[in-house]
Amino acid sequence: METTKHLPFLIMIITIITTASSTSLPSLTTEQNEMATKIIDAMISSGSFEDWSEAFLNTNDELNGPVLTSTLFLPKTSVEGINATSPLVASYHIVPQWLDFSVLSLMKPFSRIPTLLFGHSIVVTNNSASGFALDGVLISEPDLFVSPSIVIHRMASPFNFTRYSLTLTP
Ligand SMILES: *[C@@H]1O[C@H](CO)[C@@H](O)[C@H](O)[C@H]1NC(C)=O
Ligand SMILES: *[C@@H]1O[C@H](CO)[C@@H](O)[C@H](O)[C@H]1NC(C)=O
Ligand SMILES: *[C@@H]1O[C@H](CO)[C@@H](O)[C@H](O)[C@H]1NC(C)=O
Repeated sequence: METTKHLPFLIMIITIITTASSTSLPSLTTEQNEMATKIIDAMISSGSFEDWSEAFLNTNDELNGPVLTSTLFLPKTSVEGINATSPLVASYHIVPQWLDFSVLSLMKPFSRIPTLLFGHSIVVTNNSASGFALDGVLISEPDLFVSPSIVIHRMASPFNFTRYSLTLTP
């Protein structure tokens, strides 16, 4: 009985989520893909979340060649089971778009942001100014670093892409 009563509501939510998730990443050029690979390799070799930002900045530097316009979500703490040396984890924490907090904060709940992890997107779970969260993780220091082509936001903890990301078949 309970289930039946809630069914229309559930269907509505599923529809919203499905609709919101249909934005897909414009495909990257070969050069952008090469830059992305270089950045991710540097991050996973750095060994820890703390070292991700330096690796990201060193390999994505305006002064040393082409830059991948992108935003890095930098976890503040580590979490058992989410490995900073995993290329999947690193790719999921980078979005190939320039999203400073003024742009991010205009996004409505359930908006999906495609990441460098193919077919996986981050979801806006709370868009209030004081509790802005993506994949249920609070942005603890928005705009930690902002340049004309890249942004770094510090997140309270790492994203868990198996929990929030929908795997879409392209
Ligand atoms: C993290 O990944 C690396 C490389 O795949 C592996 O050697 C290491 O054991 C992993 N650590 C944890 C805690 O899973
Ligand atoms: C969003 O965050 C604000 C501030 O922390 C909180 O008051 C509010 O309940 C949150 N909304 C949801 C839907 O979780
Ligand atoms: C990530 O999410 C999956 C699916 O909800 C869950 O089974 C797993 O325990 C989570 N991992 C961490 C480290 O929270």
